Amino acid sequence: MALPSLSFLFIFTSFVFSASHSIPFIVIHGIGDQCSNLGMKKFTQKLSSFSGSKGYCVEVGNGSWDSWFKPLKEQTEIVCEKVKQMTELKDGYNIVGLSQGNLIGRGVVEFCEGGPPVKNFISLAGPHAGTASVPLCGSGILCIIADKLIKGEVYSDYIQEHLAPSGYLKLPNAIPDYLVNCRFLPMLNNEIPEKRNSTYKERFSSLQNLVLIMFEHDTVLIPKETSWFGYYPDGYFKPVLAPQSTKLYIEDWIGLRTLDEAGKVHFIGVAGKHLGISEEDMKKHVVPYLKDQTSAEDSITKSRFRMRGVNQKVIQSNMKEQSQNVEVEPSITPLLDGSLSYWWSTPFKAFIGELIGIND
Ligand SMILES: *[C@@H]1O[C@H](CO)[C@@H](O)[C@H](O)[C@H]1NC(C)=O
Ligand SMILES: *[C@@H]1O[C@H](CO)[C@@H](O)[C@H](O)[C@H]1NC(C)=O
Repeated sequence: MALPSLSFLFIFTSFVFSASHSIPFIVIHGIGDQCSNLGMKKFTQKLSSFSGSKGYCVEVGNGSWDSWFKPLKEQTEIVCEKVKQMTELKDGYNIVGLSQGNLIGRGVVEFCEGGPPVKNFISLAGPHAGTASVPLCGSGILCIIADKLIKGEVYSDYIQEHLAPSGYLKLPNAIPDYLVNCRFLPMLNNEIPEKRNSTYKERFSSLQNLVLIMFEHDTVLIPKETSWFGYYPDGYFKPVLAPQSTKLYIEDWIGLRTLDEAGKVHFIGVAGKHLGISEEDMKKHVVPYLKDQTSAEDSITKSRFRMRGVNQKVIQSNMKEQSQNVEVEPSITPLLDGSLSYWWSTPFKAFIGELIGIND
């Protein structure tokens, strides 16, 4: 009797492995970007060819414009509808989020009623715990006015309804106002005690892997540790709390702690500015989670082993490579440079102009 059941087990497991082969992924771009842009096309194509999995850039409305001005709740609803209609995703898929796109992706995981299951969530520079500043365009007078204006009115109905990033601007000196009037992040992070919804937590905790990539020289997200769910304490602009020291983590509002204690959260720091990921880091930190799970485990273990074993050699040979390739640098040239287009664009200028009445 033992033999038949064993062989059944064998057939069963090999069926499971082959069924989980090559899950597709979707990419959700950041603000001011769109799927038709060359950078996004290249990014999606590269991930697809490195991983051997099908990848789709999922657009929200007309792209760049809507990424600025459609409230994040609506953007999330659009992506939720799209993933439900994509039959390719019905057996599960992975999400790769870029910057603001991470909050939409997380919204899909937590809020999307009847959506296909999300397996791995790979976040590049996501403002998961909010961002505390509006790093606008620099020192021009219009920029200074716009910055002050947005900071002063960020939680007003008008800004909340018309400017997507106001949904995750979390000013540490205005927490009560933020909790009551900010329309997206407090809900996404289950921050409001009387409104915590265990369904959001349950869904988020069901991820297989959560990969949180922070860029060491990110000056767009304030603080950059928000990419790891680190943030300022309520009421203060310092110090930056480690993710494990925040209330969101300690009280486990959305299941981050549950995931972490199960070994499913990967806190990764990479060199570069906001979204400026190198091809090498893509291969090391993103691609393994997009491959089918059996070979993914294998290559993750191998790369860990390699790092421990020949760390010094790797560093030395990297330095050598870099000094030889000063002009070409194919592997360390970032594919995307989100910091350029992030906050400042022509439609945004027009929006600000209108707000302060200088367009007429
Ligand atoms: C994009 O769509 C919005 C409506 O969501 C519209 O107001 C805007 O004019 C469109 N912009 C472009 C550039 O097509
Ligand atoms: C929590 O969210 C789920 C899914 O959106 C919803 O069905 C449920 O009514 C919510 N529960 C509460 C207590 O708000």
